[in-house]
Amino acid sequence: MRFDVLTLFPRLFDSYLDQSLLKKAIDADLVDVNLWDFREWTSDKHRSVDDKPFGGGPGMLIACDPVYQCVEHVQSQSEKPAQLIMLTPQGRPLDQSLVEELAEKPRLIMLCGRYEGFDDRIRQGLQPLEVSAGDFICNGGEVPAMMVIDTVIRLVPGVLGDETSHKYDSFSQSGLLEYPQFTRPREFRGMEVPEVLLSGDHRKIEQWRKEQSLQRTRELRADLLEEEKTAEKS
Ligand SMILES: C[S@@+](CC[C@H](N)C(=O)[O-])C[C@H]1O[C@@H](n2cnc3c(N)ncnc32)[C@H](O)[C@@H]1O
Repeated sequence: MRFDVLTLFPRLFDSYLDQSLLKKAIDADLVDVNLWDFREWTSDKHRSVDDKPFGGGPGMLIACDPVYQCVEHVQSQSEKPAQLIMLTPQGRPLDQSLVEELAEKPRLIMLCGRYEGFDDRIRQGLQPLEVSAGDFICNGGEVPAMMVIDTVIRLVPGVLGDETSHKYDSFSQSGLLEYPQFTRPREFRGMEVPEVLLSGDHRKIEQWRKEQSLQRTRELRADLLEEEKTAEKS
């Protein structure tokens, strides 16, 4: 799976790319992450990418030309069909169903905004899929782009040690929150591991986990159960 990240701050990704699961996936050629700096597509001596908004108002906007040129260059770098994404708080919220859709694509090209965002003609002309990390405002699109990479690579075959593990995660196959889990010691500061998990009876354990999953979802995220009911009806 190939990711191309277009940003004004490529170095923000240095340590992110250099550790843990993502580094292993890159070393194993399962994932390829390429960083591109919009400033490389400017022509003035200050390498400026931003300008004041027409009509006034605070802050600056990322202008069209460096973004269009950068996107056109990046698109020409691989034959793989690419989904262009713009990270924006105004986009489709990133949830597990969107992550699953994105993981089907062989290549994602992601535009990270800064300042007050992009000139709207970037959205109008390039027609990216607009993706939001949630209903809050980040300083830039880099952390949201890392969230896309982090969530999508878990579904790329070979990236997780145990291929089945993501199926039991919250929001995945069952659409519910995951059941509670415990490791050693059996007792910690007066808190005991539930007896059933020590029983060795796999059927009972599975049943207990299903019930816990449902109970936890009911307590913490009842909206997920409502969504399931609505999906069943339609
Ligand atoms: C300070 S924000 C601009 C927000 C914009 N003025 C608005 O109100 O919609 C700068 C950049 O950060 C990124 N960004 C901020 N919050 C985001 C979010 N929740 N999801 C995805 N990207 C976000 C976008 O790329 C955006 O262009």
